[in-house]
Amino acid sequence: MQTGCECRPSIQHLSHVILDMLQFFDMDAPSLTPGSDVEFTERVQYMFHAPPLVGGNQDQYADGGGPALLPNQNRGPHYAARTAQGIGTENGEHRMGHLSCLQRTSRAADGTPIHIRMDGPGFDAMDVPGGAKVPELQFTIFVPSADFFRTLRTSQASLDLQDKVRRQPERRRPRALPHRDPTPELPRPPAPTPVLPAHRARLTAAA
Ligand code: HEM
Repeated sequence: MQTGCECRPSIQHLSHVILDMLQFFDMDAPSLTPGSDVEFTERVQYMFHAPPLVGGNQDQYADGGGPALLPNQNRGPHYAARTAQGIGTENGEHRMGHLSCLQRTSRAADGTPIHIRMDGPGFDAMDVPGGAKVPELQFTIFVPSADFFRTLRTSQASLDLQDKVRRQPERRRPRALPHRDPTPELPRPPAPTPVLPAHRARLTAAA
C-alpha cells in the first residue's frame, strides 16, 4: 500500500470462518435450549470487553439478544491482563474479551489501529469436507508484516495470560474464546450427491 510519497509495504491475510450456529450457541441439537453461557451479555464479553458494554434485551436470545452495533473502544494494551485477573469485572470473574486480547498488539501508542480489516458474509464450499456449500464469514486484514499478524494472532488467544492466572492456586482459567490450533477440526455436513461419479467426471474431462 502506498501512503503519500512514502512506500509502506503491507501484507494481506485472507481467511474464512465456517458458521456453525449450533456450535456458536453451544447446543448439541436444534431441539435443545441454549445455556446461560451464550446469553447476549456473555457473548458481548467474549467478543469485546468485560464487563459487558450493554445489557441487551430482556430476552437474551430474541432479535439477536441486543443491539447489532457496539462501539469499538480501545482499552489499551494492559486491559486483557487486568480482566484476566478479575479486576473490574462483574463479581471479579476472570475474563478476556477478543478485543481486549487483540489490543495488546493491534494499536499504536496513540491508539491508531495498525490494521485495516474487512469482512462480510459468504456461502461456498471452500475447505468443507464433502464439498457442500455452507454459510461463512469471509475475513481479510492488511497488516505491516506476516510477523505482525503472527503476534496479533498470538495476542488473540493470549494463552500466556490464561496460563498465568491458572498457575495461581485459588484461580481458575479466565473465560475467553476457546483457542483453536491453526488446523481446526471442520464441521462435516453430509456430502452432496455428486453430479457425475468421479470416474465418469474424469472420462468426460479427458474427452
Ligand atoms: C471467529 C473469528 C472472529 C470473529 C467472529 C471476530 C469478530 C470480531 C469482532 C466482533 C470485533 C469487534 C468489532 C470490530 O472492531 O469490528 C473484532 C475485532 C478485531 N478482530 Fe476479530 N474476529 C475473529 C477473528 C479474528 C482473527 C483471527 C483476527 C486476527 C488475528 C482478528 C482481528 C481483529 C482485530 C485486529 C480487531 C480490532 C482490534 C482493535 O480494536 O484494534 N479477529 N473481531
